Amino acid sequence: MKIAVVGGGSTYTPELIDGFARLLPDAQVCLVDPAADRLAVVGPFAARLLPGTTWTTDLSAGLDGASIVVIQLRVGGQQARIHDETFPLACDCVGQETTGAGGLAKAVRTVPVVLDVASRVAPDAWIVNFTNPVGIVTRALLDAGHRAVGLCNVAIGFQRRFAALLGVAPEAVDLDHVGLNHLTWERSAYVDGVDRMPELLRDHLDALAAEVQLPTAVLSTLGSVPSYYLRYFYAHDLVVRQMRGKPTRAHEVARIEAQLLDLYADPGLTEKPAQLAQRGGAYYSEAAVGLIGSLLSGDGAHHAVNVRNRGTLPFLPDDAVIEVTCAVDRDGATPRPVKAVGPALSGLIAAVSGYEELALAAALHGGRSRVYEALLAHPLIGQHEQADALADEVLA
Ligand code: G6P
Ligand code: MN
Repeated sequence: MKIAVVGGGSTYTPELIDGFARLLPDAQVCLVDPAADRLAVVGPFAARLLPGTTWTTDLSAGLDGASIVVIQLRVGGQQARIHDETFPLACDCVGQETTGAGGLAKAVRTVPVVLDVASRVAPDAWIVNFTNPVGIVTRALLDAGHRAVGLCNVAIGFQRRFAALLGVAPEAVDLDHVGLNHLTWERSAYVDGVDRMPELLRDHLDALAAEVQLPTAVLSTLGSVPSYYLRYFYAHDLVVRQMRGKPTRAHEVARIEAQLLDLYADPGLTEKPAQLAQRGGAYYSEAAVGLIGSLLSGDGAHHAVNVRNRGTLPFLPDDAVIEVTCAVDRDGATPRPVKAVGPALSGLIAAVSGYEELALAAALHGGRSRVYEALLAHPLIGQHEQADALADEVLA
C-alpha cells in the first residue's frame, strides 16, 4: 500500500514517518515536494526511519498508485507565514497563521494549490488533509468531489493529556470534541461511559487553564476546555499587546527548522531528535496513522476529524465542514451524535463558519469584494475600517 506525502520536505515529516515505522511498517511511503534541497535532507533521514521510503519532486510520479495521499504543504513557506502573523497587528487584530486575517491570507494562497494537487490524485484514493487552514481547505476538497478527511492534532493532544491526568490509557478516553478546526471545545471526556470532565475541571482547573493560556473562569463557566486557539478570541486584545514587538512564531519556527535540517543531515541520526518537539505538531503521527488505519481497515474507531456537517450541528448548513468526533471506516468519517450545543458556543461557531464559507469563495473566485466581505464577517475583524485596510494586505 502506497502513501504519498505532499509537502514531504517539511521538517514535520520525520514525525509522520516515525508513526508509520511504528504502526504501519508495511507502508511504502513516497515524499513529494518541489523543494529538492529539502528533500535531499529529509528524504534520506526518512528512509533511515522507515527503510524503503522514496522521494521525488515529480508530483505525478509521487502520486501514482497511492491509495492514501497526505497533504501537508505550506505555500510560500515561513516567509509567507511571517507576513500573515504581522500585517493584522497594524489594525489591532491578532496576527496568526490560521485565525483572523492571517488565516484568510493563508486560505486564499493555499486553496488553489491544494485543489491542483488533488486534481491529480486517483479518484478512489483518500486524501488526508493536514494543510491549514484545515477547515477551509477540507471544504474546498469535498466541494470539488474528492474523498477527503481533514486532520488536526488538537483533539489527540487533549485525549493524551486527559488520559495522563486520569491515569488511564489514551484510547480509553472518548472526547466530546466539537466546533470547527482551531475553534473547538472539549465538553466531555468519557472513560468507560462515564464523563470525567467534571472531575478534570475540579481537580486540574489551574493546570488546564494555564495550558490553554486562559483564565480559570472561562473553563469553569463553559464547563469545558477550549482549545489553545480560543485564546485568540477570549483574550484577543491581550494577545495583540503581547504579540507587538515580539518576533513571530514563524521566526521561531524558521530557527527551529534550520536546526532540525542540520540534525537530519547527519547520516548517524536514526531516530527523531528531541528538538522536533519544539514544533506544535505533537502526536500528529499518532493522529494520522490512527485515521489512515481506520480508513483502510474499516474498524470504526473514533477520531476527531473535519467532515461535512450534514445536520450534526443543526445551526449550521449541511455542507459546512465541522470538527467533531467521528466513527471512521472504509467509507470515511461519520460524526457521532452530538449533544445539544448551547448559545455560548453555537453563536461563535456559526459566525466563524459563515466567515469560512466566504473565505472559500474568495479563495476560489478572487476579487477584492469577496476578501472584504469575508473580513467583515469574521468576528475578530468585523469593522469596515479594519476590513478595508486588511483586504489590501490580503490581496498584496
Ligand atoms: C498545531 C496545529 C497545527 C499547526 C501547528 C503549528 O499542531 O494543530 O495546525 O500547524 O500547531 O505548529 P508550529 O510549530 O508550526 O508553530
Ligand atoms: Mn491544527
